[in-house]
Amino acid sequence: MQQPLDGIVVAKLTKELKDGQRAFLDMSDRERAAKRIRLVLQGIARQLGSLSGQVEVFGSFLNGFKTGSSDLDIVFVGSTGAEHTTTVLGKFAQQAALCGFENITKIFQASVPLLKLTDTKSQMEVDFCINNQLGVRNSLLLSAYCKCDSRVLLLGRLVKDWAKKHELVGTADGCLNSYAYMLLVIFFLQSVQPPVLPNLQSMVSESVPVKDSKWGCDDCWETKFECNVTSIPQSKNVMPVGELMIRFFHFFTRVFDWRSHAVCMRLNRPGAAVDKFSLTLPTNDDQWYVEDPFDLKHNLAGKCSRIGRQRILDQMDDALQTLSTTGNWSKACPPGKQQFHFLKCRISQAVTPQALLEEFDAYDLVKLHFPKPDGSNRMGQAFLEFADSTARRRAHTLNEKYIADCQLQLHYSTQHSLAEAVGQGAFSTYEMASYKMQRQVLAARVESIGMGSASYQDTGSSANGGRMPRYYDNSMMNQGGAAMTDSMSYRYYGQQGQGPCTQVMVQRPPPPPPPPPLQQAPQLGGWDQSGATAHHNGYMQAQMNPQPKVTTSWQPAIELETARGTKQTRTQWWQQQQMKEELASLTKNNGAQILKPAISAVANAKDKRQVASHESRASGWLDVPFRTQVSPDQGPLLTPQQSGQLKDLQQFLTRFEQADYHKGKPPEIVLQAELTDDRAKHSGLQKPLLSPEESQKLDAFRAWFGRFKAG
Ligand code: UTP
Ligand code: MG
Repeated sequence: MQQPLDGIVVAKLTKELKDGQRAFLDMSDRERAAKRIRLVLQGIARQLGSLSGQVEVFGSFLNGFKTGSSDLDIVFVGSTGAEHTTTVLGKFAQQAALCGFENITKIFQASVPLLKLTDTKSQMEVDFCINNQLGVRNSLLLSAYCKCDSRVLLLGRLVKDWAKKHELVGTADGCLNSYAYMLLVIFFLQSVQPPVLPNLQSMVSESVPVKDSKWGCDDCWETKFECNVTSIPQSKNVMPVGELMIRFFHFFTRVFDWRSHAVCMRLNRPGAAVDKFSLTLPTNDDQWYVEDPFDLKHNLAGKCSRIGRQRILDQMDDALQTLSTTGNWSKACPPGKQQFHFLKCRISQAVTPQALLEEFDAYDLVKLHFPKPDGSNRMGQAFLEFADSTARRRAHTLNEKYIADCQLQLHYSTQHSLAEAVGQGAFSTYEMASYKMQRQVLAARVESIGMGSASYQDTGSSANGGRMPRYYDNSMMNQGGAAMTDSMSYRYYGQQGQGPCTQVMVQRPPPPPPPPPLQQAPQLGGWDQSGATAHHNGYMQAQMNPQPKVTTSWQPAIELETARGTKQTRTQWWQQQQMKEELASLTKNNGAQILKPAISAVANAKDKRQVASHESRASGWLDVPFRTQVSPDQGPLLTPQQSGQLKDLQQFLTRFEQADYHKGKPPEIVLQAELTDDRAKHSGLQKPLLSPEESQKLDAFRAWFGRFKAG
């Protein structure tokens, strides 16, 4: 027997929910973006040649339950020829990088392998998978239920919003996924008296079988349902949406018997509960059972943990109390953004905190919560904490990367899951900022023992017991390609004279350039070299304040800087001035003319705007700086690999975008192209980068520069 509810409270709540509905209604921008994204992916499918089929939208953009935080789910349905799903997804990933997507993330180890993409223009998150026909069918089923009664959509969206606000969404954290909450809503609306929804699956007889193999064997599922909902009589239930909302929370906390029954909309009939032990999967009293309407081997609550179930019930109970006494939805589902942004992953014994800190250094990791060894050989769970959802999303792109013997399976997580893990075993927390500080101190020590200006130094040093941080494994810069491949590198220096110097090192270092001018300066007198570096290569310079303020600037090609407070000898000063003058005059008179063609040749730039500025150092290298505004999607200039590399670099640099730039300049990165004969050997390039005339000019420049080598 259903308890009567307070009419005033229900009226108040219904009004608030209906007013709030507007937030869901104005989604025209997202819908337009969704259409465009589907077309782009359809275009890629066509371009790949080996595919024949359609690219379709499914998930909440099809079933109707989309909210402001919904992703766009897209599926390719058709034949992939002889190619495996993950091979096809890999090809899509490559093309997506050229077609306006970023944060390309492979999730190939999931039961439904997929690619996660961010549409750069709309910043919409996209999940793209292959041949998930059950997903399409269940989206159509949910959509049919939404069409039966206007209250379904509103109730479903509100419940999803509520679950997301309370961080109750996510199977990795022992909760339910968004889709499962929609199944709860439909099941409840079928169960309420009188029912709001019929059972559409029991209303037709014509079979619609769909094959599926996600459980490792070939299954064939019945997916029939009544899709012609206009022929179904209107529900006799006239409860306002506020009342249905209260009753939803009441139903799952007070009425539904989770220990005996299943949430099974496929078999649901008024007054007849479904015995969970009669269904396909084995279960037990404690485990919840939420059966997928088509895939009978999928219990959507199968990964719900004891704590997860308890949290869901507690929050439902709170909502019930709040709503039934105050009718205040914004109290039950407070507005505001998520405060914490975690990724979590299982790690093997071989993964060290340092390895994780280094790996996520370029991804704005704020803290690492690392499980202390517990003496067992079990895999622990590490939690990575980010400042915001954008940083976390970028970091997710490292999914399935290997660290030691461990392939990272990164999952979005919450403070609750961390609290649960901490309750079960000890954790150490590493602050990235202090880790970096320590790393800088170590780097400075290494410099002070004479390695500071050795740009190509292997940063793995014995100075700290072999644990000297490898600042940045720039492996992405090391994959074939056209003119700038193979020996591309970039580096990033701390401010000279302030001690620490951070280098972003290449994985395969190029041959060392000639020694910098005045490198022998210490021999001239009592000049303290601890903070001094002769800049001979003009790479990207970054002045790094203690932190986190970072400014960038280009330094003159040849410049000697000394540690603060130390004196230069007159000779040193004079040499420095002379060199500066010579350099200035060279740059003004000949430098640009000599080097411009060479730069163009290296960059092979059809669009000159992309090569924002250039500098050359007479060391057998050309540095081709790209500003961060360069779009990696500009095909003619960059190969797909280079686009990817540039994208990664840009991502790395976005952390500086909050910074206070030196003279308002954006940060720049330097892609170096080697100009020595070695290049052809390393990169396998067939034709020289420079014409004979350009080479001659460059040689003249080198000869001029060579005068300074002797110091
Ligand atoms: P999502 O997790 O994106 O859910 O799964 P959603 O319904 O689109 O909800 P939001 O708005 O993004 O949060 C996308 C679709 O994948 C299928 C369903 O069709 C779902 O709508 N799916 C998802 C399943 O079939 N089973 C699952 O366990 C999860
Ligand atoms: Mg979705």
